[in-house]
Amino acid sequence: MLNSPSNPTGAVYTRGELEALADVVLAAKLGVISDEIYEKLVFGDARATCFATLRPGLEERTITISGASKTYAMTGWRMGWAAGPAHAIKAMGNVQSQQTGCPCSISQAAAVAALEGDQGCVETMRREFEARRDLVCDRLARLPGVRCFRPDGAFYAFFDVSANFGRTLAGRAVTDSTSFCLAALEGAHVNLVPGDAFGAPGFVRMSYATSREQLQGGLDRLEQFLRK
Ligand SMILES: Cc1ncc(COP(=O)(O)O)c(C=O)c1O
Repeated sequence: MLNSPSNPTGAVYTRGELEALADVVLAAKLGVISDEIYEKLVFGDARATCFATLRPGLEERTITISGASKTYAMTGWRMGWAAGPAHAIKAMGNVQSQQTGCPCSISQAAAVAALEGDQGCVETMRREFEARRDLVCDRLARLPGVRCFRPDGAFYAFFDVSANFGRTLAGRAVTDSTSFCLAALEGAHVNLVPGDAFGAPGFVRMSYATSREQLQGGLDRLEQFLRK
């Protein structure tokens, strides 16, 4: 299972890194699910790479998945898609048709309109996300007890708050990322996701899929909360 650009880190694998992985996949005859849902949200010099296209024969071993949720801000519309070898897609269809209902016809028509319509809004939003990334990372870098890496894609800041473990914040003993997130929710009204869920217990994830005004307000409150 590959996911680049990544949730939660925002990391974007380079073409060279993915080519090296592709060689391993082909030599070991592995199957790959490549989740490329953030493919249009990459910043600076970073480029999203479609894994299945990297080597001849790889498309036979790869199921590429993506959707309308991120590129077109259509999360609630429940539209995603998969591309892969015909036999795998057919088998997925068999399972899916027995297990779940399909997206409603309005969602399907909206996704076709999103994909076939003017793509100018995608670049507008990519630029907006890049500006939000810069705003959030610049402000987080100035906060006490926070170490933030600058992500190259997606819309998350994934930062180290372990320097705060051992503190009491908002009346709560902070011992791990879950208690840090609860304290931030109660004390600053900022909703973060604990890194434990992603195998990174010292970290928390902040989404910047909201307006710059909202982000400034949340970061103001987080700053006051951490400087207490
Ligand atoms: C890496 C990744 N893949 C897939 C999804 C699924 O998005 P949705 O269920 O809205 O289509 C998400 C949503 O957060 C994601 O971060």
